[in-house]
Amino acid sequence: MMSLCRKVVPASRGLASLTSVRTKVTLPELGYDYAALEPIISREIMEIHHSKHHQAYVTNYNAAKDQLDEAVAKCDTNKIISLQGALRFNGGGHLNHSIFWKNLSSTNSSPSDALQKAIITNFKSLDNLKTEMKTAAVGVQGSGWAWLGLNKKTGHLQVVQCANQDPLQATTGLTPLFGIDVWEHAYYLQYKNLRPSYVDAIWDIVNWKDVSERFSA
Ligand SMILES: [Fe+2]
Repeated sequence: MMSLCRKVVPASRGLASLTSVRTKVTLPELGYDYAALEPIISREIMEIHHSKHHQAYVTNYNAAKDQLDEAVAKCDTNKIISLQGALRFNGGGHLNHSIFWKNLSSTNSSPSDALQKAIITNFKSLDNLKTEMKTAAVGVQGSGWAWLGLNKKTGHLQVVQCANQDPLQATTGLTPLFGIDVWEHAYYLQYKNLRPSYVDAIWDIVNWKDVSERFSA
């Protein structure tokens, strides 16, 4: 049977380019105690969210990535395509939560002058931004995220919903600044069915220093 695949080795790199480097993502440290965000988010939620849910995305992404490396090496196109869902879901889960932990802090902070100016330009006021984020977060059907993102081409800030674990940058091109995780695992143990109350409360633990640094970067 004729092969549908052939290996093209750049002359400048030779066989070294065929060597697969198996890289793994790892669970990042929170940088604060599980109880640090109480009473807004309980220690129990934080511990399960970080050590169980985020860890599962890390584990499952690495497993899918290993399978992808093997499929690429074998030029198994069907297998490569079949892995896209697992890579998107678990890779997105890892990316989203890695930002989310840094977006939160028990230390009071304020948006930088530059971010404050951008918020006023795009939303008229911080309260309007909060209202837009709340509408997006509460309106997510099922599980997902509300994001404040930066359109680097236009310089505009945008509020966007992402379903499931779709990562903002890879799926919309926007740079993620601040995300609100509205999967039930993020709030249900404490807020039960009151997602709007969780979304209102989270503004008290926004790490504006981190959000501002993402904006200026
Ligand atoms: Fe989550």
